[in-house]
Amino acid sequence: MIGVFDSGFGGLTILSAFLKKLPAYDYLYLGDSARTPYGSKSQEVIYTYTRQAVNFLFSKGCMVIVLACNTASTKALRKIQQEWLPVNYPDRRVLGVVIPLAESAVESTRYGRIGVIGTQATTESRVYEEELRKLRTELKIYEQACPLLVPLVEEGWVGKPESNMILKKYLSRLKRKKIDTLILGCTHYRFLEKDIERIMGKNCRVLNGPEIVAYKLEDYLTRHPEIEALIPRNKTVTYRTTDDPERFRVFGEKFLNQNIPRVERVMIDP
Ligand code: DGL
Repeated sequence: MIGVFDSGFGGLTILSAFLKKLPAYDYLYLGDSARTPYGSKSQEVIYTYTRQAVNFLFSKGCMVIVLACNTASTKALRKIQQEWLPVNYPDRRVLGVVIPLAESAVESTRYGRIGVIGTQATTESRVYEEELRKLRTELKIYEQACPLLVPLVEEGWVGKPESNMILKKYLSRLKRKKIDTLILGCTHYRFLEKDIERIMGKNCRVLNGPEIVAYKLEDYLTRHPEIEALIPRNKTVTYRTTDDPERFRVFGEKFLNQNIPRVERVMIDP
């Protein structure tokens, strides 16, 4: 199976892109809705929660896991890859969303002026900046934390005048800096994409995260046939949450944009 992990529902936007681009595989989605949001938590807590989630997904047979959550990708992925994985599951892989998005931003930028928006934890980590600079040192990078956007999306306030006012305020510095490429560094921002594009104007390209991550996963599996060969291809999708399954199903269908037949609640902390 391919494991897809998010702190809640947001990663379903990434799963949806996987199902479109790579429909043959078996997927297991885990949303840690009981402990969301991750974006306002400390590095230690985010690491512990993410490691528990990864351990759960591996114990269910996933060969490769994608951390769809930007906060987990920026605050926990490196430590998991460098310290935890070699000791516990040396033959399996955990991937994140930062490198795919950074690579795509560097390919897309015209004037080397890139903006990143995300949760407090993601922007604080400076991981996007580091990965972007590894690819091209002389970039101008501007990061902006947007902590109010996740609750606005979860409340269904997309498109409301109040939400647009908040968006305008968050994006005003990036506009002043004349960025030409914007990374949406949080799963939930995909729902605000149209408004963000309108506010940023036609001189700024807003990257389509889920599509990019799906494309990069396909590329990864092509380059690693030894891993790809171990992933069953029965087109099954299984959903697990750490909180109320019915609430997950109702919210999740909005994020996934299709039916979720059955969700089970699981405990992932030992
Ligand atoms: N899924 C998280 C992310 O992509 C946003 C929600 C949260 O704060 O947990 O950063």
